[in-house]
Amino acid sequence: MVSAAAPAIVTEPAAASNGVRLTIDQVSHHFSLRDQVLPVLNRVSLTAEPGEFVALLGPSGCGKSTLLRLVAGLEPPRRGTLAVDGVPITGPDPSRVVVFQDPTLYPWRTVWDNAALGLEARGLLSTQRQRVDDALARVGLSDFARAYPRQLSGGMAQRAALARALVNEPRLLILDEPLGKLDSLTRLSMQGELVSLWQRSGFTALLVTHDVEEALLLATRVIVFSERPARITAELKIDRAYPRHRDDPELIRLRREILGLLGLGEGW
Ligand SMILES: Nc1ncnc2c1ncn2[C@@H]1O[C@H](COP(=O)(O)OP(=O)(O)O)[C@@H](O)[C@H]1O
Ligand SMILES: [Mg+2]
Repeated sequence: MVSAAAPAIVTEPAAASNGVRLTIDQVSHHFSLRDQVLPVLNRVSLTAEPGEFVALLGPSGCGKSTLLRLVAGLEPPRRGTLAVDGVPITGPDPSRVVVFQDPTLYPWRTVWDNAALGLEARGLLSTQRQRVDDALARVGLSDFARAYPRQLSGGMAQRAALARALVNEPRLLILDEPLGKLDSLTRLSMQGELVSLWQRSGFTALLVTHDVEEALLLATRVIVFSERPARITAELKIDRAYPRHRDDPELIRLRREILGLLGLGEGW
């Protein structure tokens, strides 16, 4: 569809998105402890459109990582359904990759060999070595392909973990506080890198972060959760072009609004 008034500024990823549509429908979850039930998710419904970047914000321990585990197919929900392009999620799949806060690289493997893990596990490495090189180039680590994890800074290790995910050419990238342990300067530059990776690769992104500003700089939509058991309390569309600037008055306004929703009042 061609619109005569199409804006010159791109606020959505390219039309050539290869991202999936993720549908989370009325998902509830609990854990059974010895003689107690711990409710964790309370009827969460959410759709991420192909190529969207959705950020999840909520109090610590409310159930965000649990939701990501369900999306990754690491466990089934107690109630409700999760689907990708209409197909129910029944287990893990290389098209849905999780990047965690800890890069979890194998210390005895080089950066290249760490990034190659997904292809190796699927028996594709001998024919598709180029994909490893490409993924390392995309995260700016080509020169460190032969380095070992101990030789990397925290930011570089997290870029290596990203490369290991990108090798699978994910159609849904699941990010669980991936920048949470980085120092603030590295974090800032990695935020920019994540946006450009997402723009170039066109995957759908689902990011958990505890940093409101990070959510606002990266996401097309921000979902706010309640305390455990998490239910969605607000959903905000972030209709701003990239690259975004933290001093954008609209983002500052949204930040204040979200902090209020999280119960962190005007003092912030
Ligand atoms: N495998 C598990 N067994 C029992 N309780 C769990 C398990 N995983 C998480 N929890 C509990 O579920 C709640 C939500 O955890 P989590 O999803 O990790 O929260 P968040 O990522 O929002 O901080 C917490 O109270 C946590 O202790
Ligand atoms: Mg968590």
